[in-house]
This record gives sequence, structure tokens and C-alpha cells, in this order.
Amino acid sequence: MTKPINMIILDDEVNILNACMRLFINEQFGVFVTSDSQKALAAIEGNDVKVVLSDYRMPALSGVEFLSQVKAKNPATMRMLFTGYADVEMAEDAINQGEIYRLIDKPWNDDELLMTVREAIKLFDLRRENELLFVKTQQQNVELKKLDKLKDDFVASISHELRTPLNTMMIVLENIKIGIAGNPESFSPKMHEYLDIIQRSTGRLRAMIDDLLDVFKLESPEFTISPVRAKLQDLMNNEIAAMQAQIDEKKLKLEVNLGEDIYLQVDPRRFGQVIMNLLSNAVKFTDTGGRIGVSVERAGTEAVCRITDTGKGIETKDLELIFDRFYQVATTREGKPQGTGLGLAICRKIIAIHGGSIHAESEIGKGTTFVFKLPAEG
Ligand SMILES: Nc1ncnc2c1ncn2[C@@H]1O[C@H](COP(=O)(O)OP(=O)(O)OP(=O)(O)O)[C@@H](O)[C@H]1O
Ligand SMILES: [Mg+2]
Repeated sequence: MTKPINMIILDDEVNILNACMRLFINEQFGVFVTSDSQKALAAIEGNDVKVVLSDYRMPALSGVEFLSQVKAKNPATMRMLFTGYADVEMAEDAINQGEIYRLIDKPWNDDELLMTVREAIKLFDLRRENELLFVKTQQQNVELKKLDKLKDDFVASISHELRTPLNTMMIVLENIKIGIAGNPESFSPKMHEYLDIIQRSTGRLRAMIDDLLDVFKLESPEFTISPVRAKLQDLMNNEIAAMQAQIDEKKLKLEVNLGEDIYLQVDPRRFGQVIMNLLSNAVKFTDTGGRIGVSVERAGTEAVCRITDTGKGIETKDLELIFDRFYQVATTREGKPQGTGLGLAICRKIIAIHGGSIHAESEIGKGTTFVFKLPAEG
């Protein structure tokens, strides 16, 4: 059985070619020797050539020129050059340009040459394996991205489908309550309580579905905002007012420090969503009697907003993860946290769309500060 050609040797001296044939005769790879550079180049095509060894001085074509043609045909080949002592300097450019892997001194030592060629073949195989692995990983990544997109589309469409029947239920519930208001005795106190529970639960479900739809909408490349000029302090005050009842209910102390007026270009509804998410987290994760702080200041061209609490805090390892979709810090003591884990993912996207950034700082047991920065008007 003939061996596949993995090595080509080009030299104008027949006795050198014969010596090479003898040297490599017992190797697993096949060797093609020739004194014709065109034949050597032709052999590169159609064979799995890993190593090419060429003489430096030849009448028709110089070894460096030949190897650079080999490189053009198949850049992966390991190219080596037979050189005499005087040729080393001249071959330097070719080495620097990556055309040559090794120089082999003439006359050579058989054992050394064998070892060098075996190593070159091993290296070639290793590089090829790496390349294949890289391509495979890339293909897998493309596949994963496709699957991820499919999953996102699925969740988005399911969420959308859920909204319609849920809205109907909420309207019917509202009508029942209006009917009862006109005739309160027709329902027992227990029934009133049940209706309130249903109404709260449907409200929560609706908020979750809205968040789900939002998170996908914000990720879509077509999503844009409609920024208007707005005073940061007003936007903050609006959301604080909306949260006041929950803050009071938990007997939390609120410290507000809004400083000098700062104007920004923001989408007020989206910006409100950010503040609302951060404030509701601060309320949710802070025990009764704790403190919540809201502050705003200018730092150069940026507005810096801080929402601070004296709540349970977040471990350092979770400080970035909490901005991932659905990530919620596991709590063994209090059970599963309330909510979907989408609030901060939505916040980060909205802030990013506005050209800003958000991060969290925290100490377990002491509290957490969410800091976000947005470009401010000069
Ligand atoms: N102020 C905070 N103090 C302590 N932990 C917090 C605070 N804010 C967020 N976290 C942690 O980060 C997680 C993710 O917050 P995020 O707002 O994204 O989701 P959520 O509040 O759990 O649910 P959702 O906002 O969707 O209703 C929370 O579950 C909680 O573990
Ligand atoms: Mg939240």
C-alpha cells in the first residue's frame, strides 16, 4: 500500500534527494522528492502535504521564492529550508515573514532532521485539530444563538397570548366589584376578601407579563426611545410620590437629596420605570424601620443618581449577576424572593439606551447602593 504524500522535498542535487528518501523510508508518512519546482507545487494540490523542505540555492528558483509560493498555495504547511552557513542571513527576511518554520544546516545530522520533521508534522496536526475545534465551537455558538432566539420568540409570543385573556379577567373582575359596590350586602365579607386576593394576583401576573414583554422589546434592535428635555429632580419626585405609600407601610425612613437642577434628554416613561424598579427593590429588600436614600448630583458632564438602602445587602459575587434576566439571589431564610428577576435587566437596558451605565455597591447586612450615570445637559 502506498503511503499518502505528507512531505515534499525539493533539491537540484539527486544524491541529496536519494539520501532523504532513505532517511524517511520507514516513517508513516509518504515523501515525494523532486528537483522540479513545478512538480513540487503541483503535488501540493490533491495531497495532504504537511511539510515542505526545499534547498536554498537552486538554478531556476530560489528556495525562499519557492516556499513563498508554497505558502500562497497552502499557508498551513510547515516550510523548511536547507541552508549553508552563508545563507542564514539572507533567509532572515523569509523567517520573519512567516514563510519558513525551520532552517536545516547542510550537511545535516540524520537523527536531528528526523526529529525536526516528526515534530513539524505533530505541530501541523495539532494546529489542524485546534482549527477544527475552533470551527466546531463557532458552529455550536451559532446554533446556540439560534436556539436562544427561538426561546426568546417563544416566550415573547406566549406572554403576548396570555395578556388578552388576563385583561378580560381583570375587566370582568372590575365590573363585578363595581356591581358589588352598588349592592354590598349581596356578597359576604369572605367573598370580598377572595375578590381582593384575585385582583391582587391578576395585577401581579399582569406586571410580570408586562416585564417579560418589555425585556424582549428592549433587546430588539428596532427598539428606540423618544427622548425629551426633562428635569431630573421632577422625574425623581414623581416616582418617589408613587412609592410613598409602600415606603410608609413598611415604616421606612426616606432621605432625599436632589441638589441643583439638572436637565437631561430622557424618555420619561422609561426613565420612570428605572427609578420605580430601584425604589421597589430598596423597599422590598429592606426590613421595617430601615432607611432609603435618593440622591442626585452632577459630576462633569454626567448626572449621577444613587438609590441607597439599609437592607440585607448583596454578596460581591452577585453584584453583576443581578443584572441578568431572571437572576434572583437565593435566600434560604426567607424563601423564594417575590418578583420575576427582570427589574434590573430592564433597568440596565433602559439606562444603556440612554447612553448611561448602572452598577451596584453593597455590603451584606449593611445595605446596597445602586449608582447610575446619564449624560446631562451642560
Ligand atoms: N436593594 C436590594 N437589596 C438587596 N438585594 C437586591 C436589591 N435589589 C436587587 N436585589 C437582588 O437582585 C435580584 C434581582 O433584582 P430584580 O429587580 O432584577 O428582580 P426582582 O426584584 O427579584 O423581581 P422583579 O423586579 O422582576 O419584580 C433580586 O431578586 C435580589 O436578590
Ligand atoms: Mg425588582
